Amino acid sequence: MPHLNENYLNLKESYLFSEISHRVNAYIAANPDKKVIRLGIGDVTLPIGSEVIAELHEGVNALANAGTFKGYGPEQGYDFLRNAIVNYYERNNVSIDSDEVFVSDGAKSDTGNITDLFAKDNTILIPDPVYPVYVDTNIMDGRNITYIDANEGNGFLPMPDFNLHADIIYICSPNNPTGAAYNKEQLKTWINYALENNAIILYDSAYECFITDDDLPRSIYAIEGSKNCAIEFCSLSKTAGFTGTRCGYTIVPKSLKFTASTGDTLSLNAMWNRRQTTKFNGVSYIVQKGAAAAFSVEGMAQCKKNIEYYQENARIISKGLAQKNICYFGGINSPYVWFKCPNNMDSWDFFDYLLTNAQVVGTPGAGFGKNGQKFFRLTSFGNRENTIEAMARIANLF
Ligand SMILES: Cc1ncc(COP(=O)(O)O)c(C=O)c1O
Repeated sequence: MPHLNENYLNLKESYLFSEISHRVNAYIAANPDKKVIRLGIGDVTLPIGSEVIAELHEGVNALANAGTFKGYGPEQGYDFLRNAIVNYYERNNVSIDSDEVFVSDGAKSDTGNITDLFAKDNTILIPDPVYPVYVDTNIMDGRNITYIDANEGNGFLPMPDFNLHADIIYICSPNNPTGAAYNKEQLKTWINYALENNAIILYDSAYECFITDDDLPRSIYAIEGSKNCAIEFCSLSKTAGFTGTRCGYTIVPKSLKFTASTGDTLSLNAMWNRRQTTKFNGVSYIVQKGAAAAFSVEGMAQCKKNIEYYQENARIISKGLAQKNICYFGGINSPYVWFKCPNNMDSWDFFDYLLTNAQVVGTPGAGFGKNGQKFFRLTSFGNRENTIEAMARIANLF
């Protein structure tokens, strides 16, 4: 009999979205005449722009001819895409080298797989609430986690305690689910903390494209010292509507080096390269063609149009909550609006209340950690008409 990875016994049931659909389906079955509006799930709804679509087609056409056919590509991604990403960072005044960019099928895989590079006995710091992948992947590996509270008191932007040591720190900014985003000064403090502790920051910037405020960094590499302590994960999912198409990338600076117990110097860039070339065979040529088009000036201008549409939805949601004096976070540099459940309700009770009385579906904050217990997340990824109607229905309730 195989000895199983019994760390899986320590995982909490991942029931958030299945429980939501179970409750919504039961409601619809009992109330077939009611129109339910879904502002719960973090998936995009607008079609991909024509620049990207044209290149996806080009990619397909290339496979139809012997002269341009592509088989296995480089595990790290084609140079044309790695260079397009470097160029995108340059346009945002951040300098990285193309061999520091690793193309993948998305930030979920990379934020999950990165644990391969770290031993079991690290002190891991993870904010609560946060995107659940960081917690579950460390539990699967049998690591203990220290949680750092993100709450109303710190604006859901926890800062380091210099009296406590950590080896690995997860930061998600702009944050899922709270929508809160660190400014340069706050991130600099985290970088100072990481450098002082010889620690590494795993920085998830999957929502960087939603940042409009100039004081908020779109990449951790905009901050001095970060290339000695941070890995950055990013995704085309929300930037270019690639949630189904699948493409992301991870930046591992070559300056990230640590001393092993043997005295050898280990480069995280070399280790990640080794990990990817061993366990991953690259993203399809077709998808990488489309992804490169998304990073072109014209392609990005089209992506921005979609993002602006979602941003306007976020403004509508935020304004509706503000008019009812409901305390909310996010919604400006993020597609997520995170708010305190009215009347001190528990997030699942509020979910039921909203579904039953307004036929609006959101996401209970409890699904993202204990500090989400009394909070609720609405997303701006729905269509305009539904967003407006949902907020009108909510306004009638309070
Ligand atoms: C914070 C965060 N990181 C990563 C991801 C996953 O991104 P991808 O679609 O590239 O796997 C998500 C998706 O919801 C997310 O919210």
